[in-house]
Amino acid sequence: MESAVSPLRWVGEAGDGYLEMLDQRLLPGREVWQVMSSAEDVADGIRDMVIRGAPAIGIAAAYGVVLGARARVDGGPTTRQDAAGELKPVFEMLSETRPTAVNLSWSLRRMRHVVQAHDGGAANKLVARLFEEAQSIQREDRENNRRMSELGAELFDDGVKILTHCNTGGLATGGFGTALGIIRAAAAQGKLEKAWIDETRPYLQGARLTTWECLKDDIPATLITDSMAGHFMKQGEVDAVVVGTDRVAANGDVANKIGTYSLAVLADAHDVPFYVAAPISTVDLETPGGDEIPIEQRSREEVTQVGETTIAPAEIDVAHPAFDITPAEYVDALITEDGIVEPPYETNLKRLAESEAAE
Ligand code: MRU
Repeated sequence: MESAVSPLRWVGEAGDGYLEMLDQRLLPGREVWQVMSSAEDVADGIRDMVIRGAPAIGIAAAYGVVLGARARVDGGPTTRQDAAGELKPVFEMLSETRPTAVNLSWSLRRMRHVVQAHDGGAANKLVARLFEEAQSIQREDRENNRRMSELGAELFDDGVKILTHCNTGGLATGGFGTALGIIRAAAAQGKLEKAWIDETRPYLQGARLTTWECLKDDIPATLITDSMAGHFMKQGEVDAVVVGTDRVAANGDVANKIGTYSLAVLADAHDVPFYVAAPISTVDLETPGGDEIPIEQRSREEVTQVGETTIAPAEIDVAHPAFDITPAEYVDALITEDGIVEPPYETNLKRLAESEAAE
């Protein structure tokens, strides 16, 4: 069941290595690894979608801090205050790259704690500790995804047909995936008849990336355009919808790729269960509800062009929210690495956080 798909890799040691990102803008046509040798490179890579997907963004940012620390504080002794001061702009730059996925601030918070715990002395000690933390964030994400996927796959019977949106696989995470991880686990258990893959307009993460992963890992899949989902639900061809998330608010509202809300409403109308694969790193109890989640607005060209081809008149006004909010009432369950969370979300998410903190 292991998947070799990974969006990033560190080459070399903490002190002299660099990060490589698989350029997701070029998939499925070409597999090109881009070298990221500074925090600025990493910030550009996140902003420009070389890497994308909430957990993967968080992991990349953590390695960005390592590169930033090496450039700014390495080479001599440093105090905790000096290190924190030098690294402040690095943290700010990385946290401003994309606003919706909370994994970014979650992961940067973990990296900040490492800086705060620095006891002074050799700066390369701090760089080494930051590197260890980035590696832990990546490893834990992969392990959590596997646990979440096993748990999620248990919800389904043999012959299940699952519809998914966007790309939530190895490419979007530290490995294995969240919603696509669940589909992957169901396939490995011999339960999956088929995954329906929404193309995911306008950026086409489903058509370009999820299909690529499914073919690579022998997951039975059929690509459809987003507007076909209702048709196949009506025909009884969809047993469940499973999507990922960029942020779950305290009341259970879910931010995810634009088009998710429409799918949830369709699923409700057709009595199809709607599940969200939500690693605990995406749960944001500080944000009370979906209305408070910032929605990234992306460029008009991503809507008016498909690849290099322009498909709309140059004068037309364009809107492009990259994410939408699915109200909690449409979500049958959140699948986390620590268990399946059902409504009422306000209470049950709080309970989950408390049991996490007690561990
Ligand atoms: O704009 P993207 O491609 O970064 O959006 C990704 C999504 O919306 C995913 O569904 C979400 O990040 C979950 S990935 C496990």
